[in-house]
Amino acid sequence: MLGPYSIVALVGSLRKESFTLKIANAMAKLAPASLSVAVTTLHDLSFFNQDIEANPPADWLRLREKLQHSNGVLILTPEYNRSIPGVLKNAIDIASRPYGKSSFLGKPIGIVSNSPGPLGGVSAAKHLQTIMPGISGPIMGQPEIYLNGVGDAFDDQGELTKDSLKVVLQQYLEAFAAFVEKQNR
Ligand SMILES: Cc1cc2nc3c(=O)[nH]c(=O)nc-3n(C[C@H](O)[C@H](O)[C@H](O)COP(=O)(O)O)c2cc1C
Repeated sequence: MLGPYSIVALVGSLRKESFTLKIANAMAKLAPASLSVAVTTLHDLSFFNQDIEANPPADWLRLREKLQHSNGVLILTPEYNRSIPGVLKNAIDIASRPYGKSSFLGKPIGIVSNSPGPLGGVSAAKHLQTIMPGISGPIMGQPEIYLNGVGDAFDDQGELTKDSLKVVLQQYLEAFAAFVEKQNR
């Protein structure tokens, strides 16, 4: 085993009791020893505005530097109106700039969508598969992961209690660890 590789897990929901956040926390705990997963929420990120690109605020720079220093990125998203939440798109827009110098460049990407509903946020994940290729490293194609029915997966402390979800996350993380290792070799 090589590594440990630093992975930034971007959380696409600001909600206190967010399932997306709980999944990110569970993934950080379930990750194999070769991955060190930093759960990263987007509460303090200001709006992207092209007018201030030449003098970017500290919060933009913090996000960009965190991504640049990572060995890979997991993007965790809920689905809002068949797409990704604005807060996540804002973070991606900030990290994608300046033009040609995206902080995602060369970083292996894993896309993890979820929903309490039956479709697992698949449309949000598909939108990320459209957004990311021009500004990132390779996106892991297999296994895909669209987590449905996540509403009953956690206890009152936010701990993952649904075994079937645990198994899926573990399998995904093993595959992502191998993918990250290959890209960082
Ligand atoms: C504005 C909005 C739009 C939503 N659109 C969808 C949707 O298109 N598909 C879906 O499965 N759930 C949709 N939902 C329900 C979310 O999946 C649910 O609120 C989920 O808990 C949000 O993720 P979070 O728990 O990480 O905050 C939507 C929720 C909101 C607030």
